[in-house]
Amino acid sequence: MLQLSETQAAPVFMTANPYQPHMARIVRIYRMVEDNYVFTLRFLDDQLASAFSYRPGQFMMLSVPGAGEAPISISSSPSRPGILELCVRRVGRVTNALYRLPNNSVVGLRGPYGNGFPVETMTGNDLLIVAGGLGMAPLRSLMWYALDNRDDFRNVTLMYGVKSPAQMLFREELASLVGRDDMQCLLTVDSDPTGTWKHHIALLPKLFDYATITPATTYAAVCGPPVVYKFVLQRLLELGFSKDRILMSLERRMKCGVGKCNHCSVGYKLTCLHGPIFTYWDAINLPEMI
Ligand SMILES: Cc1cc2nc3c(=O)[nH]c(=O)nc-3n(C[C@H](O)[C@H](O)[C@H](O)COP(=O)(O)OP(=O)(O)OC[C@H]3O[C@@H](n4cnc5c(N)ncnc54)[C@H](O)[C@@H]3O)c2cc1C
Ligand code: FES
Repeated sequence: MLQLSETQAAPVFMTANPYQPHMARIVRIYRMVEDNYVFTLRFLDDQLASAFSYRPGQFMMLSVPGAGEAPISISSSPSRPGILELCVRRVGRVTNALYRLPNNSVVGLRGPYGNGFPVETMTGNDLLIVAGGLGMAPLRSLMWYALDNRDDFRNVTLMYGVKSPAQMLFREELASLVGRDDMQCLLTVDSDPTGTWKHHIALLPKLFDYATITPATTYAAVCGPPVVYKFVLQRLLELGFSKDRILMSLERRMKCGVGKCNHCSVGYKLTCLHGPIFTYWDAINLPEMI
């Protein structure tokens, strides 16, 4: 049985005080979707910027001076070092303060935290990535990791669904993957008020009809709102996926990010330490997880 928390150990660039962030500059702000911007960050310390390493699925504690801290998944891939990309939805105190900052501003970063995806275990297998809405933010890291290390994986399939084309994160980037012959990129919207959408118009689980999946040799990585988990997990189980081949990225409210405050506990697990990537096996043993 895959025990995620025991298989993960990524380097954490600690200062003497674990709560002390490293300063990073916002080098690019990409207004991708209304209230969903991508911030490209680079550590001020060049040595740290080039040595910084992480695992797809890990997150950073992002601090904006005077506003506080929030956990944000890393959307870029460790296969592209030097910068970090964070896809941030504007919802509250920290994210509103971040959106007010101009390019070149300096913010704080602690991390990387959490277990991340067990990419060594997944190597040599097929990879099925299923994202709904903002769930693409952590899964984009895994997708580019697999595409940049293409020989390490067998079939790579992405299924991504949002309500309407205007809400699709990384829309141009993902559309450019649709024609690739080394992966299958399936994009869908619930509806297309513009009439210009060139991909699928259907609910996300419908995309399973267009892919050939071999559950015994596939790891499925899933992230999205609760409704996505409900229907996608049901579909994966119907296909015959074993519970430890379904990996889910989950969110909980966090404070410390390092296993000290208990804010993110789910039963006896801490999301910041044992997660945010959990297997479906974990989820059925901790029913309040989803
Ligand atoms: C592991 C992990 C990864 C994440 N990755 C991303 C990511 O990649 N991108 C992203 O945009 N977000 C991500 N999030 C979510 C993000 O951390 C939250 O949205 C965070 O709260 C934003 O901080 P804020 O100060 O802007 O919002 P807050 O001021 O904390 O408010 C956020 C929302 O929560 C509500 N809220 C505030 N306080 C409480 C409370 N005590 N109880 C219940 N609800 C409350 C607010 O009304 C608001 O709707 C991630 C979270 C986790 C745990
Ligand atoms: S956020 Fe403090 S224990 Fe997880």
